[in-house]
Amino acid sequence: MADNEGNIAAKDYGFGIPQKQEGFFLKGNENASYGIKSRLSQVFNQKSGHTVMLAFDHGFIMGPTSGLERIDLTINPLIQYSDCIMCTRGILRSIVPPTCNKPISYRFDSGTTILTSLNDETLHDVEEAIRLNVSLMAVMVAIGDPDHEGSTIRNLTKTVDYGMRYGIPTLGVTAVGKNLTRDARYLGLATRVCAENGANVIKTYYCDEGFERVTNGCPVPIVIAGGKKLPERGALALAKNAIDQGAAGVDMGRNIFQSDSPVGMLLAVREIVHNGATVDQAFDCYETYKNSGSCPCCCGK
Ligand code: R5P
Repeated sequence: MADNEGNIAAKDYGFGIPQKQEGFFLKGNENASYGIKSRLSQVFNQKSGHTVMLAFDHGFIMGPTSGLERIDLTINPLIQYSDCIMCTRGILRSIVPPTCNKPISYRFDSGTTILTSLNDETLHDVEEAIRLNVSLMAVMVAIGDPDHEGSTIRNLTKTVDYGMRYGIPTLGVTAVGKNLTRDARYLGLATRVCAENGANVIKTYYCDEGFERVTNGCPVPIVIAGGKKLPERGALALAKNAIDQGAAGVDMGRNIFQSDSPVGMLLAVREIVHNGATVDQAFDCYETYKNSGSCPCCCGK
């Protein structure tokens, strides 16, 4: 119990020294609330300003995707090497240990699957996001989809409103769709629309030409999805190109968990995203881990 008498007198007031004011390290989020900044600081590394998110939410539209048949066996051992995990509430509750202590990017919408028309989504209850202690609420936005553009933008808007109320940042995910092109013009428009509607971070795809225009034209950080499985060197080059052209990280799934060395790939991607490694250095990291079970680079694994 605090005493009223006999305490040492307070005297270190630092007269003449202005109180330190910290800026915020992630672009476009300087004016966000304390809760949003605090959660973003869990997802993004403050030193590099980047993040390596491990995505394994594919089952909500694709069912038991290759590499995700037994998440307890394939993904749980990988989680420790990621900065954040992206998954559904079903997988969180049934398989991911709450003791893993990783920030969660929660798939906050659900709807149709690859068997019908993608992107016809509804939102979950925001109380569920609070109960699950998530750090990001991820919502699909189908810009240019004549059937679902309006409803998915409304979903994003509602999620941002929830996020503002409870201090949880929103991750706008530009949609996959058969008729949606992945060039700089489309991606630039889609990411910008998400940001204009209040998303704190955007997840989109890399494109070979003009990606720098996409990141520069978007006022908040962009992370890239990996897409379909590529040869390992190709996937590392994709990550490297994206980071060099202004991406703030990756949210990668298949190119990690479908690799012949998922830990090796995750460590190699980390080298690029956090430590500025070249593709050759990162590939060496992947191969070394694959062949020896340890990694010589500064990740210390
Ligand atoms: C797709 O359903 C999800 O949004 C994935 O999280 C996203 O596509 C990233 O995974 P991948 O790197 O496998 O594309």
